Order: sequence, then C-alpha cells, then structure tokens
Amino acid sequence: MNRGRATLWTCAGHLARPGRASGPPICPALSRRRAHAAAVPPVWRPSSALDEWVQREARPISLRQLTFFGRSLTESRLLDSANYCRLELPTRIAHRLRDIQTLPYVVVANPHLAHVYELYLRAFERFRRFPDIRTLEDNDKYCKVLEDTLKEHATVIPRLAIGVLEVRGLMKPEETDKFMNTMLRSRISRRVIAEQHLALTETFNSPWHFPSAQPVHDPNAEAVGEIFLRCNAKEIVERCGKTTQELIKRAYGSHFDIPEIHINGHLDATFPYILSHLEYTVGELLRNSMQAVIEQRKFKDAKPPPIEVLICETSQHVIIRISDQGGGIPNEVLPHLWSFSKGPRRERRLENLARVPKLLGTMQELQVPGDTPNEPHKKHGKKSKYSDSGQHHGSLSSLTSRPPDLRLGIGLPMSRVYSEYWAGSLEIHSLEGFGVDAFLQISKLGNKNERLTTRASMDA
Ligand code: COI
Repeated sequence: MNRGRATLWTCAGHLARPGRASGPPICPALSRRRAHAAAVPPVWRPSSALDEWVQREARPISLRQLTFFGRSLTESRLLDSANYCRLELPTRIAHRLRDIQTLPYVVVANPHLAHVYELYLRAFERFRRFPDIRTLEDNDKYCKVLEDTLKEHATVIPRLAIGVLEVRGLMKPEETDKFMNTMLRSRISRRVIAEQHLALTETFNSPWHFPSAQPVHDPNAEAVGEIFLRCNAKEIVERCGKTTQELIKRAYGSHFDIPEIHINGHLDATFPYILSHLEYTVGELLRNSMQAVIEQRKFKDAKPPPIEVLICETSQHVIIRISDQGGGIPNEVLPHLWSFSKGPRRERRLENLARVPKLLGTMQELQVPGDTPNEPHKKHGKKSKYSDSGQHHGSLSSLTSRPPDLRLGIGLPMSRVYSEYWAGSLEIHSLEGFGVDAFLQISKLGNKNERLTTRASMDA
C-alpha cells in the first residue's frame, strides 16, 4: 500500500487527487494510469493511509459532553479521552488534507499554503501512527506529541490568512472563504479536543486530584479542563474592555480620550464556555468599536461617546450587543465584511504585508499589567498555554508595534467562525454615518454540537 506523502505528490511533484477517481487527473502520466484502471471493475479501494482516514466521519462533541466526561476523572476515563483524541485528530486532519489537495495546483503552490499542507501532513503521519494508549505512561508520551504539535502549528492562522490573500484572483472569493471557514473551524475543533485532553491530564496529575476507580463528582468545580462552567458575560466584557483600552491607549497615545464602556442588562448571566473563544470575539468587537470612534477624530476635543454593551439572557441564549458611535462601516467595505480574501481593506493589507520583512512572529499572548484580579482562567490556572486567543492578543499587540492597519485583517470573519462553532452567531448592523451594532449570540446550555461545516450560504 502506498503511504503518506508518496501517494499525494506524484509525477515529479505534481499534485494528484487521490480518492477522486472520477475527477480529472492533473498530469498526463496519471491520466494514462487512470485510463488503464478504468478497465478494472469500478470498486473504489483506498489507495493510501489518507484515503482510509478520509473515509471516517468526525465524531462531533458538545460542551456538555466534554464537561460530563471530564467532570469525574478516573484513570480509565483519561485513557478513553486519550484514545478519542488518538483517532479523532488524524481523522479531522485527513479531511483537511484532502480539501487542500482539491485546490487548484497554483493555489497550493503558494508557499504559505504549501507550508500549512506540510505541517498537516506531518501531524497526520505522527498522529495516525501513535499506538493504542493503554497506560498513564503511554498517555504522557501522547501528551508530549500533542504539545509539540500544537506549538508547531502556532503560525497556521497567519499563514492561511496571508496565503489566501496572495492567491486571490486564482480562486473565486466564495470558494476561498468556504475553504478558510472550513479550515479554521476544523482547526478550532482539533485544538479544543487536544487542549481539553491536555487539561484533563494536567488535572489528573495535579497534587489535589485524588485518583479513584469510581467517578467522583465535585459539584463546586468551576472548570472542567478548558471549559469554564460559569462564564459571566459582564466580567468577560469588562476584562476584554480593559485590555483593549490599554492597547488602544498605547497605539494612539495618551492625547486621545479612550471611549468608556458601559455595560447594562442581565449582568448575572452565566453559561459554560471556553473562555479564550469568547475573549477573542468580544476583544475583537470592542477593539473595532473603539478604533472606529477614535479614528473618526470628530470627538478630538470632546469626550468620545461610550461603547454601550447590553447583555440579554433568554432561556436558550445569552446575547451581547455592542454599540458604538464610530460612524458606521464604509459602504465599499460592507459587502466584504466577512470575507477572508476580498474587499478594499484586504487589498491594503496585502500591500502592507509586502512591506513587512518577515511573517508576523507576534502571536504570543499579550499580558497587560494590572489585569483585573477577577480573571477566572488565572484563578483556576485554566488559561490554555496553546490558546488561539494568542491570535487575538497578537493582533491587538500589533497595534502597539505597527500602524493599526498592519494587522492580518481577519478579526471579524474569524470571530464569526468562533461564534458559530458552538452554535452561536455574530451579526453586524451598520448605521451609516452613525455607528455599528454588533450582536453576539451565545448558545448558553452547552448542549449543541460543535459546528464543523460552513454556513450554507456565504454572504461574503
Ligand atoms: C492545528 O493547530 O492546526 C492543529 O491541527 C491542532 C492539532 C495539532 C492538535
């Protein structure tokens, strides 16, 4: 059986499309082989390890399942969690590898996209070959592989973002956006699975965990792995607001008055969630609002109008509305708000990126001195070491070191990917000449499965 890379790159480096037996082959030699194969009965057989793994379906999870599973941790449950990861990660990566293979060759030849492909291929090989995890020692070895791979993949998002900007024009914008949405959701999903398992292992190994054969449920637990059981919407807005104000102050200088943030509504609303996912989105929305208010400059000599945040709790959802008076979104930008590849801002971004000497290496977490003491993730030591919130803070931190327009520019579409991932939504209403209302809806029961597929219709 052909294995791994050899089956993916054939005919002196031409990208083949294994598994798409009916699709047009890309190189003539392959075409001749296919013609010969046509004489064979049309029973499709997997031709590579990748083909085999692509046959498997991802098994979606919900926050509730993750919570129940990790809440009463025993050795046997920890090993089950490890083996779930062991099978699920290569399955999910295999699907994305296949997606990349079906892109036009000129697109995959882009150095950033090719780099991501290589990373995924290596991870796939590493994960699929990992043997059954039967003991805690096996699990330790597996966790080491997970940790290393998570770190190795830290630049995937900027690579994808720059890659799709560079190949615009070679693919339809709707196709590029669909590809990006699928890649990003899948990446979030894999990181959730991997980070949750690492967090459970850490809990299991911590000195205050007393392993027992029977599940023991602690009703006062505040977090299960990466899931914070009672995220308080008001506290999250406050915390992200403070960080954002700090960064904006640093970027624009102290001569600008920074807009205040007023929070009203259901201030006690809580729900289970992965903090970093929410912080990414709330931080991004607040930053957009503050930046819009400040850049209008019309309040230069007067106190700028506050950002108004309204929290509304219903039986199923928590809705956070963020309203600013930053003048609204320019008409030429509005149709491309959710696009990863199209629109005037994307064009500018590409020009700016061309001036940056090397790939953004700024994806570290930003620690703002004087963060509120009430930081749940710090209090519980649950802040993920690998969290993609680093991407968010990375983009915020870029405000401090470069002109504000020199960011990746994917904050809004990325925020929507995060919001929809746990069955929520993100909508933006622009009131021309006045401001913007952003509506972030969170599914508060945690009982909805992760959303791995993209929106049926992309409105980008
Ligand atoms: C990614 O971050 O892109 C991943 O594939 C995560 C995985 C290594 C656990």
